[in-house]
Amino acid sequence: MNQQDKRWALVTGASSGLGADFARQLAAQGYSLLLVARSLAPMRKLADTLIAQHGVAVEVLPQDLAAPGAAQALKERIDALGLPVELLVNNAGFGVHGAFHQQPLDRLQGMLQLNIVALTELTRLFAADMAARGHGQILLVASVGAYQATPTYAAYCASKAYVLLLGEALHEELKPHGVQVTVLSPGVTATHFFDVSGQQPTPYQRMVIMQSKTVVRRALSALAARRAAVVPGLLNALTVFGNRFVPRAWQRRLAYRLMRND
Ligand SMILES: NC(=O)c1ccc[n+]([C@@H]2O[C@H](COP(=O)([O-])OP(=O)(O)OC[C@H]3O[C@@H](n4cnc5c(N)ncnc54)[C@H](OP(=O)(O)O)[C@@H]3O)[C@@H](O)[C@H]2O)c1
Repeated sequence: MNQQDKRWALVTGASSGLGADFARQLAAQGYSLLLVARSLAPMRKLADTLIAQHGVAVEVLPQDLAAPGAAQALKERIDALGLPVELLVNNAGFGVHGAFHQQPLDRLQGMLQLNIVALTELTRLFAADMAARGHGQILLVASVGAYQATPTYAAYCASKAYVLLLGEALHEELKPHGVQVTVLSPGVTATHFFDVSGQQPTPYQRMVIMQSKTVVRRALSALAARRAAVVPGLLNALTVFGNRFVPRAWQRRLAYRLMRND
């Protein structure tokens, strides 16, 4: 089989956490992989393991997706390789925790550039190819925080609300073109997320934490079932569902209480 005939999945944020588990589970399903993040070494190591275990092809493409123009540059690199992306997993992202008015502006800008701008541009660029071919799949990683205002993660959760609404809209819009879009909204998951966000997990977060591989398994099942959105974990799903019956002021005050470290 030549390279073009393989089923290629592009996973952003593949150097750790959910992205690395997406890579592992997709390789087990027979996907060949394009791995993207900034850190080369962990992706190279993961690639070697997956090639040995599953006999799939893996390309490692280090790229800082928070740099303006990065999505277009990445698309050009993949086009130059001549590889058709059948599945795009838009997973790279991070949060900034703490008092909004004290968060460093450059961290906020980088977060919005990665969580919103790069994700939108990659989705737009690869959706066009998929629609032209008449098939493809896109998974967008949001968060349970997308479903409600969350003090101490104000801008992060607002960025994930954008991802959720974008994905739900595209689920309908791209369906007639043969492109399946699913939004994954994980709750607290054991990854490097908290090291990066700077938050000490609260007792509530430690109680509800899920394993990354479980979250990824649920996400890939939802994608296969052509669902618009999935919230893995019973407690997370109940929280999101219960929000429908709770005034928004109560939602955000409760979220504040559960998220603050002091
Ligand atoms: N863990 C949770 O509790 C949780 C809950 C809800 C949603 N999420 C979402 O899940 C997604 C995955 O995060 P995670 O939990 O797996 O955290 P993680 O272990 O910190 O992984 C984040 C990934 O994003 C990559 N990344 C960060 N900045 C990047 C940049 N500028 N350019 C390219 N790649 C970049 C990181 O790689 P490099 O540092 O090597 O670039 C890493 O591979 C994120 O969108 C996050 O918001 C996580």
